[in-house]
Amino acid sequence: MNILGVSCYYHDSAAALLQDGMLTAAAEEERFSRKKHDSGYPEQAITFCLKQGGITAADLDYVVFYEKPFHKFERILLSALGGFPKTWAFFREAMTAWFDEKLWVKSQLQTKIGVPTNKILFVEHHISHAASAMFCSPFEDAAVLTIDGVGEWTTATMGRATATFDGSGGGSNTINLTQEMRFPHSLGLLYSVFTAYLGFRVNNGEYKVMGMAPYGQPKYLDLLDQVVSVDQSGGLHLNMDYFSFHYSVHEKGFNQKFVDLFGPPRQPESEFFTLTTNPNKNYPGWDDAAAGQNQKFADIAASIQRFTEETILKMARAVHAESGSKNLVMAGGVALNSVANGRIVREGPFENIFIQPAAGDAGGALGAALYAYHVLLGQPRKFVMDHAYWGADYSEADMQQAVQESGFAFEQIDDDDRLLDRVVDTILNERVIAWYRGRFEWGPRALGHRSILADPRRESMKEVVNTKIKFREPFRPFAPVIMAERADEYFATHNINQSYLAPYMLMVSPIVDDKQDKIRAVCHNGTGRLQSVRREVNSGYYALIEKFGQATGVPVLLNTSFNLRGEPIVNTPQNALNTFSKSDIDQLVMGNLLVKKSK
Ligand SMILES: [Fe+2]
Repeated sequence: MNILGVSCYYHDSAAALLQDGMLTAAAEEERFSRKKHDSGYPEQAITFCLKQGGITAADLDYVVFYEKPFHKFERILLSALGGFPKTWAFFREAMTAWFDEKLWVKSQLQTKIGVPTNKILFVEHHISHAASAMFCSPFEDAAVLTIDGVGEWTTATMGRATATFDGSGGGSNTINLTQEMRFPHSLGLLYSVFTAYLGFRVNNGEYKVMGMAPYGQPKYLDLLDQVVSVDQSGGLHLNMDYFSFHYSVHEKGFNQKFVDLFGPPRQPESEFFTLTTNPNKNYPGWDDAAAGQNQKFADIAASIQRFTEETILKMARAVHAESGSKNLVMAGGVALNSVANGRIVREGPFENIFIQPAAGDAGGALGAALYAYHVLLGQPRKFVMDHAYWGADYSEADMQQAVQESGFAFEQIDDDDRLLDRVVDTILNERVIAWYRGRFEWGPRALGHRSILADPRRESMKEVVNTKIKFREPFRPFAPVIMAERADEYFATHNINQSYLAPYMLMVSPIVDDKQDKIRAVCHNGTGRLQSVRREVNSGYYALIEKFGQATGVPVLLNTSFNLRGEPIVNTPQNALNTFSKSDIDQLVMGNLLVKKSK
């Protein structure tokens, strides 16, 4: 049975293909279209999924969309009408967009994919999120927590899911969402408002707020109390006098009253330096007044981050008490907040936590397909997600040809041991390499198939990678990748070697005190957002880290995504070579080819 899941028209559109209950392919459209966070119809992702599954649209049994467009339309319409006439511009723009394509998803899918309407199903947005977590997890029962900006009306849910692998317990698969929070009261939207206030793009810069937060102190929690109240189980109530996202077409989401309370917003793209980032005032163009203002922004970032963590912890405790399960599955864009996730792991009540790597709306495509298969069609479970490599790959011939056309010098090294030795030597010489192998990753993180790698031991590497290669904000951290069985030597989180989050870079952990100096380039205020790797999941990548560990005593590399600032992670060999040529990356490993900078 072939089931295609589709998510689009909000942000991060994607497609996923299930074949007899096993995941065959899943990809975000941005990797093909090269438009970051592409929200359009995922034509190329769908084409890829069908090709990967060796089928055509005629072979599809069902196409499942990740939300219910008419319910969402109702929310937009009622929000617009509720604020009339203030909402006139919002109403006009929203209606144009909705009548253009969003409302007619069924006929769009029918025409574009070429399937009859009786094969098209719709699953609610937060059910799709919940299913994407539960049916990829190894758990047979779990508490469920979904938290995002907004779906149709819902902004967060709690509940319980059960689904056995052997069909025992009656064999019925259930996702029971017993509590929900509704628009406009939303933790995701609140975080996005602060993302905009701090000068970053909504649905894109949330992780930059998280990166800025450690440079500040949560001094503004009392001001937050004026704009939002929270109950014991994490239920939020936003004071809508301070917000505009429910009636404005502008992305920022806050109004003058908010500015009167928190002060003028940070200008997008402005320089960020404080006495914490640069204690010696050695930032080019240092200015005391600007540093003071930046410190305030960092303190505000720390405040919203702290508030978010505390709220999610309350939700986690509440759903634990209600469900009685020792397992938690989480999804929704807020489940990508890796600092909060680390706190749930360390301070929360659950023994096991699973989040799949595309926890945001892209993952809805996968969740919708899984829900249709396991719940609507009642089929038993077989699949557990144990890696993120569900995207496209390219043949040796494709890679050879692309490298030859690029004009870069290269060597083909079929003995992987020898190739890895060469790469380790390059890294030890303080060079930076790009690592391009296999199928690209599902979700926003590069996990060793489309990565940039460097020596994590010296603080200076951070600057090298940041300014010469990534061209990104200097305050943003780089992440460590470590052999899974040695993770507990470096990271102070109980049972980190068995973590379901660390393989996907979904949690931040404190770094063990006496190891912090050993991995300076990936230590962010004493913490790191680690990826742990097992040999059986990614043998070449694992072997590279192992060899680096044998050479240095440190089984860790700096890992960051293979892309230029503002671009999606590379997909094709041509994308990779293009990024290689535009950056100061020293060598590129592409399959068994070692590509060098000289032409
Ligand atoms: Fe969502």
